[in-house]
Amino acid sequence: MVDTETFLDVSIWRDQGGDGHFETYQVPRLANQTILDVVSWVQQHIDPTLSYRFACRVGMCGSCAMMVNGEPRWTCRTHVKKVVVEDCLEIAPLRNLPVIKDLVVDMDPFFDKWVAANAVFEPSRTRDDPMAPITPDDPMRIVADGAIECINCAVCYAACDVVAANPEYLGPAALNRSWSLVNDSRDAGQAQRLHAVSAGGGCHNCHSQQSCAKFCPNELNPTLSISGLKRATLKSLLRWDR
Ligand code: SF4
Ligand code: SF4
Ligand code: FES
Repeated sequence: MVDTETFLDVSIWRDQGGDGHFETYQVPRLANQTILDVVSWVQQHIDPTLSYRFACRVGMCGSCAMMVNGEPRWTCRTHVKKVVVEDCLEIAPLRNLPVIKDLVVDMDPFFDKWVAANAVFEPSRTRDDPMAPITPDDPMRIVADGAIECINCAVCYAACDVVAANPEYLGPAALNRSWSLVNDSRDAGQAQRLHAVSAGGGCHNCHSQQSCAKFCPNELNPTLSISGLKRATLKSLLRWDR
């Protein structure tokens, strides 16, 4: 339903190649409207050249994250009424990542850090071996469960001040994934992983102030995962010193 009496003043970051600036649009206020609905309305009714990313629209794919009034959000599940300030919205590309165009950022640096953190499963068995049984009440499985539902949205990465200050820092999502693999008893890459996450840009850079946990749309707590990595890397260092 359209409320023809009410409009939103929406400032959207436009960047067609180095000329970044905000442009303001008037968008009708709709019932149950999300931030992604607002961006789509501008693209469909005012400027078809506006670029942005989305796929599932239901909080599964992690592709629609943007800065909304200065905070990182998954825009398909963020209702306007939750974040609007005096009928105004400011929508910008995710912080801490290079802008490709308008609201689209380059995700390569984000995923490069998953590789740098060895946040990739290293099988200990071949496809010919029987499957390793892991029961739901296995203590390692329970710890891994707490970190596993990441949708790779980079909201936590945009929220992290240490990433902003130190581009070498691996960041909350890659480290969170590494922690879930440290707790996977089927994985054969633990020594290399602990070495990777304790190197220069690793887990010991985290200041534990939990911006990542505050904004993670799936209510994960990368800070907790990183504190687990800090303990695991110290334990592994002490073992090497013996
Ligand atoms: S707690 Fe650590 S990873 Fe999370 S936002 Fe702060 S510095 Fe970044
Ligand atoms: S940890 Fe949360 S905020 Fe970070 S990428 Fe995964 S789902 Fe997104
Ligand atoms: S469009 Fe898939 S999570 Fe938002």
